[in-house]
Amino acid sequence: MSNKNAERTYIMVKPDGVQRGLVGDIIGRFEKRGFKLIALKLVHATREHLEDHYGDLKGKPFFPGLINYMASGPVVAMVWEGLDAVKTGRSMLGATNPLASAPGTIRGDYALAVGRNICHGSDSVENAEKEIKLWFPEGIVQYSHDLAPWIF
Ligand code: TYD
Repeated sequence: MSNKNAERTYIMVKPDGVQRGLVGDIIGRFEKRGFKLIALKLVHATREHLEDHYGDLKGKPFFPGLINYMASGPVVAMVWEGLDAVKTGRSMLGATNPLASAPGTIRGDYALAVGRNICHGSDSVENAEKEIKLWFPEGIVQYSHDLAPWIF
């Protein structure tokens, strides 16, 4: 996607984040940063769907545990749009291992274990496009953030 202002990333609150009541905080961080929410749903994903999502990691020793964890409860699937959304989203999440995540990041504020790291964010524009198609095959709602008469 050439327009950096309209870059899209797939962000997901994992089952532990939902269970711990962190959904509102995570959404709030992206809203307050200035990103536009363009898709959101709560979904208890099948193992097959999760194996597709994490297809690149098949064969890793932690893969079965990862799928068990991700299938253990619903996740919040979201698409956020805005300037440099993929890279900025990743920096807001923190490092894969929460112990290496700076305070101020989501993982750095709320997590300790790599296997319970609360949230997912696409790591490239190409993967974001794939993940958005996988999680939102029904498509994305189009709307404008321009001033709407009912707000003012
Ligand atoms: P990965 O795609 O490498 O990281 P990220 O989520 O930051 O893009 O790994 C996917 C998930 O797999 C990661 O969020 C947590 C889990 N995982 C482990 O449980 N153990 C590990 O050693 C690694 C590298 C990842």
